[in-house]
Amino acid sequence: MDTEKQALLQPYKLGNLSLKNRIIMAPMTRSRADNPKKVPTDMHVEYYRQRAGAGLIITEGSQVSERAVGYVNTPGIHTAEQVEGWKKVTEAVHEEDGKIFMQLWHVGRISHPKFHHGEKPLAPSAINPNEQVYTPEGFEKTTEPKEMSMQEIQETIQEFKHAAQMAKDAGFDGIEIHSSNGYLFHQFFNKNANQRTDDYGGNIPNRARFFFDVLEAVSEVWPENQIGCRFNPSLHKSFGIVASEESIPTFDYIIEKLNAYDLAYVHLSEPFTDVSYVPYLETEIARHYRKIYKGTLMINNGFDRESGNKVIEAGDADLVAYAKWFISNPDLPKRFENKWPLAEFDQDTFYTPGKEGYTDYPVYEEEKVS
Ligand code: PHB
Repeated sequence: MDTEKQALLQPYKLGNLSLKNRIIMAPMTRSRADNPKKVPTDMHVEYYRQRAGAGLIITEGSQVSERAVGYVNTPGIHTAEQVEGWKKVTEAVHEEDGKIFMQLWHVGRISHPKFHHGEKPLAPSAINPNEQVYTPEGFEKTTEPKEMSMQEIQETIQEFKHAAQMAKDAGFDGIEIHSSNGYLFHQFFNKNANQRTDDYGGNIPNRARFFFDVLEAVSEVWPENQIGCRFNPSLHKSFGIVASEESIPTFDYIIEKLNAYDLAYVHLSEPFTDVSYVPYLETEIARHYRKIYKGTLMINNGFDRESGNKVIEAGDADLVAYAKWFISNPDLPKRFENKWPLAEFDQDTFYTPGKEGYTDYPVYEEEKVS
């Protein structure tokens, strides 16, 4: 046994919230809102309750409006029925002494007209991301999106504000803006996706403007220290994003500017793919942004128990978010604490309807007795 507690198991003060450990459940699309109104179900309640041992749960991305959708059966956070469904989730997590943030999501052009009664998805510019999306009729190629008008930009800002209020009504402890992974905000940040010539494009501050407008709007609903933001600065050749020499300077600008806000955290992803061959991309995201950002830094992607402890001990991050390991190990913090083996996850059931691969992964003790 360690005489010292592992770094991941140290408690953490996140704004006014006390987290019992630094093991965060990362936001993960699971496509279980298999009902016409995209309401979270009793299965969601059970799934999140089982994982309440995390220091903080961040929910799956939840669309802020119907126009924000690009995946099948993702839950929403814009109607009264959805709020009622999410209330049961937050109550269950709180009963288990857990904490839970809602991730607010707008996919922008990573969508398809089939999700929008035949209308084009919205994006900063009419540029096809040339990706595949999974529509109700199976995988299909993306098409050219619609360049957002000034009015649509303002409406979308209001959709985020409305969803932020709905998340508050549902009893969440905070919200995370999904400004990552090639979705709407990332499309605005990226020079190749955003060719606007108005105040929302053309240079770095302009490409960051939509994000900061949304941050200001949701700050009217939530205290800043209950708002987190997620970024993937070295994303390249996936989710429709092709990076450029301006990518890292853009994220440097945004993350430096966030020092002026008293946010709950900035949540960053290490590169999804090997970018060591791209001279202008950062290969070590936590290390790079730790020098720029003064607040709480959460890091994600590819960590295990050892590397998670190391990144905190090295001082490069405060919190570590785990995704797939939390799917197959509902008791992940306990397993880390006791150095118990981890159960493997089954990729075939990541997005399928039903309980299989969702709420049927046992905790370690149950495995031993069965
Ligand atoms: C996914 O379902 O593959 C997915 C969704 C949202 C993300 C990343 C991946 O941010």
